[in-house]
This record gives sequence, structure tokens and C-alpha cells, in this order.
Amino acid sequence: MRILITGGAGFIGSNFVRHIADIHPDWEITVLDKLTYAGRLENLEGVRDGKGFQFVHGDIADPAAVSKAMAGCRYVVNFAAETHVDRSLYDAGSFIQTDVYGAFVLLEEARRTKDLELFVQISTDEVYGSVESGSSTETDPLMPRNPYSASKAGGDRLAYSYFATYKLPVIVTRASNNYGPYQFPEKVIPLFITHAIEDRPVPLYGDGLNVRDWLHVDDHCRAVSHLLDKGVPGETYNIGGGNEVKNIDLTKRILALVGKPESLIQPVADRPGHDRRYSLDCAKLRGLGWKPVESFDEGLRHTVDWYRSHDGWWRPLKEANPAFREHYERHYKKA
Ligand code: NAD
Ligand code: TYD
Repeated sequence: MRILITGGAGFIGSNFVRHIADIHPDWEITVLDKLTYAGRLENLEGVRDGKGFQFVHGDIADPAAVSKAMAGCRYVVNFAAETHVDRSLYDAGSFIQTDVYGAFVLLEEARRTKDLELFVQISTDEVYGSVESGSSTETDPLMPRNPYSASKAGGDRLAYSYFATYKLPVIVTRASNNYGPYQFPEKVIPLFITHAIEDRPVPLYGDGLNVRDWLHVDDHCRAVSHLLDKGVPGETYNIGGGNEVKNIDLTKRILALVGKPESLIQPVADRPGHDRRYSLDCAKLRGLGWKPVESFDEGLRHTVDWYRSHDGWWRPLKEANPAFREHYERHYKKA
């Protein structure tokens, strides 16, 4: 039994590799990852030397790399993507290339893969666009409003089209904002935790009243592995944490946990096209027997503790890594 996990060197992918190695020690795992600025081999320490583990360094948009990685796989879970909304404002092309064209190359190879049981396309709640009231269900229209969410919506519907057209067994998942260990420190939670540790001001966009629903990465991993077992091909599943929090409140909680004053909050210009709120109705997945088990208070405290005790992981990413510095200077100078 071999599973291909694309983007397995990134934040959620590497947590998912560890999760699968834990619950299915008899499965063999292939990771296909391009190792962009967001992919780190060290995220896979401890599982890389496992029996049957294979790492393929390559691009999901490269048919030769994909064919090598997918050979003999029973399951494919596609986490590989360009993922940062703010970067998509400057460089939409790389998002379209990976999140749409890369998904296409994977789906084409999946059609040729004998014995493939399931292809899971990891999409996002951001494809629904801004949700002013109520909660999105899986049949709601998609209204993406930035190049990241628009390219994810492309990959999401392309994957579904391979089910409808070719009967490829495809499941699409739409998770809310994840947090937890190994998240690249450009996303809001690790950025604010590590900035606070360094006594740097934390740049809060706009009025700080935008709402995100926070999902612990372990709950996300459990949901995806639950769907490998119980998911119905052709269906789409929302995966939410049930923790809707305004950015200003999130920021104050992070500062309190790190033990730093609220005077570190630095209001900056709003993100263009900033979605006001995301909210998921997860009754469909709950109906299959999954529910999130991590409380946000505990999860956030553990996440702060993880960043405190792993500064050897994130300091080099912020200091020595030109990808972080260049994006930071370009983006926040404008803000
Ligand atoms: P990440 O940016 O931390 O990791 C992405 C990984 O994909 C990296 O290892 C990178 O090297 C790899 N990658 C990028 N382009 C590639 C390519 N062309 N070929 C092969 N590998 C490539 O992202 P993440 O936060 O772990 O997100 C993983 C998936 O989950 C993405 O599809 C994202 O859209 C989705 N998602 C994320 C969140 C979240 O809050 N982080 C929420 C919902 C859905
Ligand atoms: P982010 O982690 O980029 O995730 P997403 O945009 O995919 O939801 O941002 C989460 C929220 O935090 C979002 O409303 C934007 C806000 N934010 C800030 O206020 N300041 C920042 O520096 C960043 C990166 C995000």
C-alpha cells in the first residue's frame, strides 16, 4: 500500500506525513515536493528514514517527475501549492502554474495509474470568498476574490471534472485556516508569535476585524485520513475548526501568551481585496464521524510553546532566507 503525498515538505503536508506514518506504519509513503521557499526537508526529520519512505524532488507540473512519484500508488493526496495570499498579489503566475496546471498534470497521471483508489485534492475555504453572514456549505457558489483563492478554485473544480468526466475517484476538501507546528513564519500566527518573541511590532491589517476560523493542523490531518477511509468519490467536504476569531482578538491572545504588551500591535494598510470572514458548515463531514478535538486555547498555547522551543527552525527562515526578507520588504513597506 503506497500513498503519494505531494507538498509533503510543507506545513500541513509534513504533519500529514507524520500522521500517516503513525496510524498506518505498514503503508509506504512517497513525497513529491519541489522544495520551494516553503518546503523544508528538515520538516520531515524522523520520518524520512522510515522503511518504504521515498522522497522525489520535483514539480507537480512536470509530467516525468509526477509519473515517477505516482507509480504504484493506491492513494494520492495533493497538498502541493503556492499558498500565501499576499504573495499572490505580486506573482499570480506561479499560483496558476502550480495550483491549476500542476493539479492538471497530477490528474492526468492519476487517470493512467492502475489500481488508484482515491485522489484527494486539498482545496480551501477561501474558494467561497468572503462570507458576510451564515456559513458556507459544499454546494454554495465559489466566489474567490484573490489570485490565490481563484487558482485554488481552478484546481478544486478541475479535480471534480475528472470525476464527472472520467470517473476518476476524486474527493475535494476545503479546510479553514490551519495553525500548528512547522508553519512557515510568513502566515499570521507564526509571524506574530515569532515577531513578538523578537520584540518586533506585529503588522495588523486594516481594522483588525476580519474573521478566520482556526483549525489545528492535527485535526485537519485526522479529517483527511478519515476521508481516505470513509469519503465518497465525487464529493466535496468542508473541514473547519469551529473557532471563528477576529484578527485583533487573535493578536491580543498571541501577545498575552508570549508575554508581550499590546503596544506591539502596529495597524498597517489593509490587504487589497481582504476577505472579511470565512465560515464553514461542516455537518457533512461530521455526518461521517469526524469532529475537531483540539481546543483553540490549548492549541494556540502549544503552538506558542513550539515556536519558543524551535527557534533553530524559524530564525534561519526569517534571517538568512532571502525569500522571507524580500517578500517582507516588498509587502510591508507598502503597508
Ligand atoms: P506550504 O506553503 O507550507 O507548503 C506547500 C508545499 O508545497 C511546500 O513544501 C512546497 O515546496 C510545495 N510545492 C509548492 N509548489 C510545488 C510544486 N510546483 N511542485 C511540488 N511541490 C510544490 O502550504 P500549507 O499551508 O502546508 O498548505 C498545504 C495545502 O493546504 C495547500 O494546497 C493549501 O492551499 C491548502 N490549505 C492550506 C490552509 C492553511 O491554512 N495553511 C488551509 C486550507 C487549505
Ligand atoms: P494569513 O495567515 O495570510 O491567511 P489567509 O489570508 O489565507 O486567511 O492571514 C490570516 C489573517 O490575518 C487574514 O485576515 C490577514 C491577516 N494578517 C494580518 O493582519 N497581518 C499580517 O501580517 C498577515 C500575514 C495576515
